[in-house]
Amino acid sequence: MRALAVLSPSLYEKTDARKRHLFSIDSHQIPLGFVTASMPEFDENADNFANYVFVRKISFSLNYRDLGIIENAWRKIKEVDRETYYPIGSDFCGIVEKVGKNVTTLSKGDKVIGNNFYPFLENNSMPGIPSNHSSREFEIYHSGKLMKIPDGIPAEQAGSMSIGVQTAMSMIRKANIKEGENVLVTSITSNTSFFFLSLLREKKCNVYGLSYSGKNTDAVKNHFPFVKEIFNFKENQLSDNLYFDVVLDAFSDTYLVPLTSHLNVNARYLTCGVYNQSSEKIKAVEKINLTLLIADLMTRNVQLIGNCLGSGEDLKNGVNGFTDNTLVIDQTFTKEESIQDFLDKTYNVEGDKFGKVAFMYT
Ligand SMILES: NC(=O)c1ccc[n+]([C@@H]2O[C@H](COP(=O)([O-])OP(=O)(O)OC[C@H]3O[C@@H](n4cnc5c(N)ncnc54)[C@H](OP(=O)(O)O)[C@@H]3O)[C@@H](O)[C@H]2O)c1
Repeated sequence: MRALAVLSPSLYEKTDARKRHLFSIDSHQIPLGFVTASMPEFDENADNFANYVFVRKISFSLNYRDLGIIENAWRKIKEVDRETYYPIGSDFCGIVEKVGKNVTTLSKGDKVIGNNFYPFLENNSMPGIPSNHSSREFEIYHSGKLMKIPDGIPAEQAGSMSIGVQTAMSMIRKANIKEGENVLVTSITSNTSFFFLSLLREKKCNVYGLSYSGKNTDAVKNHFPFVKEIFNFKENQLSDNLYFDVVLDAFSDTYLVPLTSHLNVNARYLTCGVYNQSSEKIKAVEKINLTLLIADLMTRNVQLIGNCLGSGEDLKNGVNGFTDNTLVIDQTFTKEESIQDFLDKTYNVEGDKFGKVAFMYT
């Protein structure tokens, strides 16, 4: 059974060159690679597995959040003087191989993805992302943490969508967008923004984009022709006369302060994340003037809405939006390609990524 993992130094040394890579996060060079991991044991008749399901993965993908998990895992195993590893990954698509005796919602052969519902308990199971190790080729999940994927969504798309769809759908629901409103989507080529754009397609609102790098904006416009204009953040291109009713933002530590003066009265500013997630980036964060920020938000009657993930209903509704509306996949990797290429593409090292990046087990 395979898994993509953070490796201890001695395991890195033993791993085949094409299956390993020293991945940079700030000044750290973190050893990652494919390992042969131990198979989980699952007894369909045992009481302790009664509500659980044994899943064989067919695809997985990584998200921005996994960078923090990779760094933390590395801190724990970098001094370990033996061959060990920490499997990574957050999105996946898999096939149910075995079910526990109380499971009635899933059966052998079902194609499933993770259900990251949050913040409340659903399906008698715990809220949150079901696994931080989704690249494990076989894994055991509580049946309530899985959702059957509709026919017609290919495995590489299914294995790349759960966290993004659930989060974007939740934010769009909470944004309560009305006809004719101006909606700004930030970091327009980010994965999260691709989900926003895919789900905004049918809304009768004016969608604008903001690009941090200024790269790949033509590709975004070609794929999402309803986007009225994409502004370049670094070149300070936002027009003084354009005000937004809704901002959908995945990197609020970059954008909240500069965008406040572009918000309309009664605007909703929704954010699901920050750019500075690594320990070095957090240390280097610049201070902001909180008093001015609050005063600006208050005088415009702005609602600042933090959002983490979404409900099970958000996932179901969001996924249905992709049955005849393809999720953009930049590239699908298999064991034939090098791990370095997969990681560099996933984290857009060359600055040319357009869509999600998937890994398929063949
Ligand atoms: N809480 C939740 O439930 C949840 C769920 C999903 C995602 N998130 C969060 O959403 C964020 C985005 O994740 P993702 O996977 O979509 O990221 P991603 O695909 O890796 O996004 C990278 C993009 O961010 C832009 N960018 C680069 N440097 C930036 C900077 N300094 N400030 C702002 N933008 C910059 C670039 O796009 P442009 O050049 O086009 O601007 C780049 O292509 C993360 O903070 C993640 O943790 C949270």
